Amino acid sequence: MSSKPDSNNVRSTQNLHGSMPNGAHTAVDVVLDTAYQGIDSNNWSDLFKLARKSELPDFIADMFAGKHINQSEDRPALHSALRNLSKSPVILDGQDVMPAVTDVWRRIEALCNKWVGVTDVIHIGIGGSDFGPRLAIEALAHVPDIESRGMRMHFLANIDTAELARILDRAQPNSTRVIIVSKSFTTLETTMNAKAVVAWLKDNNCTKGQIAKALFAVTANVPAAKEFGIADDHIFPFWDWVGGRYSVWSAVGLPIALQYGFKTFEEFLAGAHAMDLHFKNAPLENNLPVIMALALLYQQEKHGIEAYAAIPYADALDWFPKWLQQLDMESNGKSVGKDGKPVKYSSPVVFGSAGSNAQHSYFQLFHQGPEIIPIDFIAVRKPMSARPESEAHHRILLSNCLAQAQALAHGKTDNNPNNVYPGKRPSNLLLLPELNAFYLGALLALYENRAATLGALWNINSFDQPGVEYGKVLAKPIEKALASGSDQVVANESVDAITAERINFLNSNS
Ligand code: F6P
Repeated sequence: MSSKPDSNNVRSTQNLHGSMPNGAHTAVDVVLDTAYQGIDSNNWSDLFKLARKSELPDFIADMFAGKHINQSEDRPALHSALRNLSKSPVILDGQDVMPAVTDVWRRIEALCNKWVGVTDVIHIGIGGSDFGPRLAIEALAHVPDIESRGMRMHFLANIDTAELARILDRAQPNSTRVIIVSKSFTTLETTMNAKAVVAWLKDNNCTKGQIAKALFAVTANVPAAKEFGIADDHIFPFWDWVGGRYSVWSAVGLPIALQYGFKTFEEFLAGAHAMDLHFKNAPLENNLPVIMALALLYQQEKHGIEAYAAIPYADALDWFPKWLQQLDMESNGKSVGKDGKPVKYSSPVVFGSAGSNAQHSYFQLFHQGPEIIPIDFIAVRKPMSARPESEAHHRILLSNCLAQAQALAHGKTDNNPNNVYPGKRPSNLLLLPELNAFYLGALLALYENRAATLGALWNINSFDQPGVEYGKVLAKPIEKALASGSDQVVANESVDAITAERINFLNSNS
């Protein structure tokens, strides 16, 4: 790793090279500049008062202390323990969870050491069992000097066989390893894809012994993984106190360690741990996740914003907005609060993609559309390749990022209404010193802690996701009706008239 700051706490602005812009804050060497939020010092002081009135400091303390802040499921949200490299005790219901966590680290490291002759890894999982490791594998592949085993890493999430077919066309069955990742081990996409991959191994004459050697599982439902036929010593557990979308720090991140080495995985955890220490200990006024959360809250109050965008000016982070969508919208996309009463605010729609590509897509709407959409511009100081052109290209990348933020903030007048930019469009600038495992970990933990802060401010439980269940339940009778092949399906208690017509149309054309 090329640079790694003191992970203990907030760094003052003076510790950084060069003078920091006015209105900027820093932690773990990540700089957050809120100058274009249009929030003056009185507004900020009201926002921090509001945070204290909402008992945010107590919430943060409770979260790290393992209190059951996920009340609907009567659990804590202790993903921070998964990256607690200090190994200080984390007591959950009277018991320290760290021995179990460190045992999994030891097993991951041991597996890395005996991982030889593997050409392909098929990682099967969806949602939180997919986005985190996929983002990290993609992002770290762009780190110029990273050590990599260079295996083909395939991520199989969708039940659509297009993805399955593409992967199985490329993988070499005799040297493939399969990691089935599912917290519940009941997710239909994952279990069906896993069965399909096992069938492919069999069809390619892999023996029982070879298949047993190839299969691994990462789950909180160890009995189900055993039942599937995974050997005990190939099952890596995690726990119900880790939400799926917060799970990349567990053995869900196994591909990171296998591809880039255990040390890199540790650095990823270290960056996140450093950000946790900052979030836990820094005063609210210097606390990056808190400041970002309050800025969003301000824009909701002031402009009634209903969407916001995260634009990483780094191709390596192209998967970041997808990861963030699940994090924010699955955590906080809720209409009722912890007390069961309607909430005033909840998660806006989150979207984004890598800049500068995004400028040539939907930025028109940011500049001149009727809605105000706050943006997080995320930039990296150092170029992300060792190409001879990298410095020159990187300057252009950064200048685009800075120019967009400035144009959005100030706008432009013109006699021709078509050429008027209204301006006053708020944005943050987040600046990472470089892209490596450490800072990637810090970035993800920053947003995780921001999501938790927003939940606390909105009085939302950020750690359950009851809204995703209903559609899954309804899919069962619909699948049955499709399987019947009948084009005479009539509406009943589980299939309404519109859906019955759609099923009949699909069946009549099959
Ligand atoms: O459907 C939503 C969800 O439950 C997510 O919360 C989760 O990340 C994903 O499905 C996958 O779940 P599992 O890891 O249990 O397969």
